[in-house]
Amino acid sequence: MIRAVVTGTGSALPANRVSNAELAERVDTSDEWIVERTGIRFRHIAAPHETTATLAADAAREAIAAAGLDAGQIDLIVLATATPDQTFPATATKVQAALGINDCVAFDVAAVCSGFLYAVQVADSMLRAGVHRRALVIGAETFSRILDWEDRTTCVLFGDGAGAIVLEATEEPDGRGILSTRLHADGRHNGLLYVDGGPSTTGTVGKLRMKGKEVFRHAVVNLAAVMGESLTLAGLSAEDVDWVVPHQANARILDATARKLGLAPEKVVVTVDRHANTSAASVPLALDVAVKDGRIKRGDLVVLEAMGGGFTWGAAVVRW
Ligand code: UT7
Repeated sequence: MIRAVVTGTGSALPANRVSNAELAERVDTSDEWIVERTGIRFRHIAAPHETTATLAADAAREAIAAAGLDAGQIDLIVLATATPDQTFPATATKVQAALGINDCVAFDVAAVCSGFLYAVQVADSMLRAGVHRRALVIGAETFSRILDWEDRTTCVLFGDGAGAIVLEATEEPDGRGILSTRLHADGRHNGLLYVDGGPSTTGTVGKLRMKGKEVFRHAVVNLAAVMGESLTLAGLSAEDVDWVVPHQANARILDATARKLGLAPEKVVVTVDRHANTSAASVPLALDVAVKDGRIKRGDLVVLEAMGGGFTWGAAVVRW
């Protein structure tokens, strides 16, 4: 049996960290409102020279080093983003070039905030099928570039960054690796969270639009359900979970989802306070924080989950 085992993690954040108070100088908001409604205190905002590809490449280098590999050993790059450097080529190929990998399979996955979970399932399937051996799975975004900085209901919520993992096909995984993945999409909800532009419609990049309250309501229900489904698929239950690494959209969503599953809040990795919502990057960024600070250790049972525009949502159960 082949399993895809996580052998390295990495992350990258733009140097510029922006506080709520700084934002309140630009838009009609306050630190109190943002903290109370979302738990967000800071977000990192990319400078002009920092792009989705440069952040992704920095995160990838860290993940490859943590796995003890050379970049040339990577034979698959799956990059989740809704903010690619260009409409094409795929940002994954820009990362490939930056890493000096001459030949591998490289493509992007677009599932917005759930993109990393979608990318994990795609890479896991390709590794278990024996097609590839060592994959880089990356979530990377520069949402600051698609925010309407006049719209206080959205611009305070998002940030930029990238996270990456290395997945290696392992014949004798010793119980480790990705145990299950479960994804969903429901396109009836396209209009609740979207960008009002695109190459085939307006010919522009567009700005993010969201009906936050409705997204919130769906998020709690869908995330609790899909976590339960992924655990059942793995033959496990909520009591077996050591860590939940959720999509970091809103601290209140994290609390409500954990409560619905009966999970202790201490088991939930929270980075929304310092990263805000970084879309596809949020799960691998949080994962890297909890690995580096020693919380997630070999043998731990980790559940990843995310939900975003589409709607799309998903979860994965990983034995570390
Ligand atoms: O990553 C994809 C998934 N995305 C999400 O999961 C986001 C889900 N949604 C949310 O996190 C929350 O719905 C928000 C944080 C977006 C909003 O929180 P809320 O508690 O649902 O607030 P609300 O939209 O009902 O707004 C309450 C009030 C409104 O004023 P009135 O109409 O009651 O007078 C807003 O105009 O807060 C006002 N408001 C603000 N005030 C100060 C909205 N944004 C701001 C702001 N600063 N930035």
